[in-house]
Amino acid sequence: MPAITRPRGTNDLLPAESGLREWVLATHARVAGAHGYELIDTPVFEATEMYERGTGAGTDVVEKEMFSFTDRGGRALTLRPEGTPGVLRAVLSAHLDQARRPVRVQFAGPMFRYARPQAGRYHEFWQLDIEAIGERSPALDAEVIEVAWRFYEALGVTGLSLQVNTLGDLEDRLRYRAALVEYYTPLQDQLCEDCRRRLGVNPLRLLDCKRDAGLVAAAPHIGPSLSPESQSFFAEVTTLLVAAEIPFQLNPRLVRGLDYYAHTTFELWHESLQGAQNALGGGGRYDGLAEVLGFPPTPGSGYALGVERTLAVCREQGLGPAPRREQVVVLPVAGTDIPAAAAVARQLRAAGITAILDASDRRLDRRLAAGARHGARAAVLVGADEAAAGTATWKDLDSGRQETATVADVAGALRLLLTGQ
Ligand code: HAM
Repeated sequence: MPAITRPRGTNDLLPAESGLREWVLATHARVAGAHGYELIDTPVFEATEMYERGTGAGTDVVEKEMFSFTDRGGRALTLRPEGTPGVLRAVLSAHLDQARRPVRVQFAGPMFRYARPQAGRYHEFWQLDIEAIGERSPALDAEVIEVAWRFYEALGVTGLSLQVNTLGDLEDRLRYRAALVEYYTPLQDQLCEDCRRRLGVNPLRLLDCKRDAGLVAAAPHIGPSLSPESQSFFAEVTTLLVAAEIPFQLNPRLVRGLDYYAHTTFELWHESLQGAQNALGGGGRYDGLAEVLGFPPTPGSGYALGVERTLAVCREQGLGPAPRREQVVVLPVAGTDIPAAAAVARQLRAAGITAILDASDRRLDRRLAAGARHGARAAVLVGADEAAAGTATWKDLDSGRQETATVADVAGALRLLLTGQ
């Protein structure tokens, strides 16, 4: 019988890698937490209509990439391709914004997009996300960008490039849309099939096209379509970034792949990531999204960062948590010593020590060697004499030093050895 294989575009997180991901997630939770972002969690599947209305029916994500299904009750559901609409729905339906504005929330979790799998692009991937809901201010946009920047700084990642742009408000975008239609219409014959179709539906998306790059380069910028108010909003964002000493590049082509953006948009690119997959993350302001989802108008700003891409950069730059060997292996000398050894292991765990019982029937020296190989800092031996006397013998696997003492004393000595306290 052929062995079952992993579905296309998915990844297994194996123990050798889990420490790195845990460190990345914990670092993000800490940095976002230090800025006041509190944990939130929302369902992994939601009404398909939420993404059609929120993320946008004309986007690649909704048109081509959703994992949608009908449940047994006939409801149209979708595995979340992104977190923003679900978080906004959760915050506004719980009226959190009435008690405090902005509502600052953060989360980490899996997302699902049916894009052609390749390096850095998967069907299931994780995002780190923050959303600040209920306030429309340049300071909040600058804060959101700063959290992402400080997070990568805390990891020690270098080689980042921060791209920022503004898409103005709805009226600015309508003016810009008209300018793009005017520019592209006479060039229709030269456009790829996707772009020809998008010209009628969502002309801003043409700026994302990799095939028509030459035409994109010569397309009009949004600048002349922006109202003075939108210009000064964006000028304040960039002034605050300069004051925070966060380097950035103005990128008038940065339109992002989702429909709900207004005003500030940004992406973080990394030099080591390839081609279209070079974005570690991105985000921006989404002041119109709440209304589209059927809630009172509520501004918001946020970002999502790709965990797999962040892990790839960490691996490449040799970044990760400091190696720790904080476990001990507990070895019954003979099979009859297993109950006594298990009891010692239990006492050590109660004292806060990670104790792994090796009750296999291999020779003692083999079990000692295996313990050391798998990262144990010390071994605790329990034989008939120790069992009778209520003691245990512990052995430092680095120095070879060995000592017999009461289990309480052994726990104290091991804690000192493992943690220094
Ligand atoms: P996004 O740009 O679609 O934004 O995704 C953010 C990040 O998720 C990307 O930069 C990338 O690192 C990662 N990502 C996206 N698709 C894949 C994939 N197929 N495989 C691996 N990684 C992927 C959003 O999702 C918005 N919700 C961001 C946001 C939050 N805007 C405001 N608030």
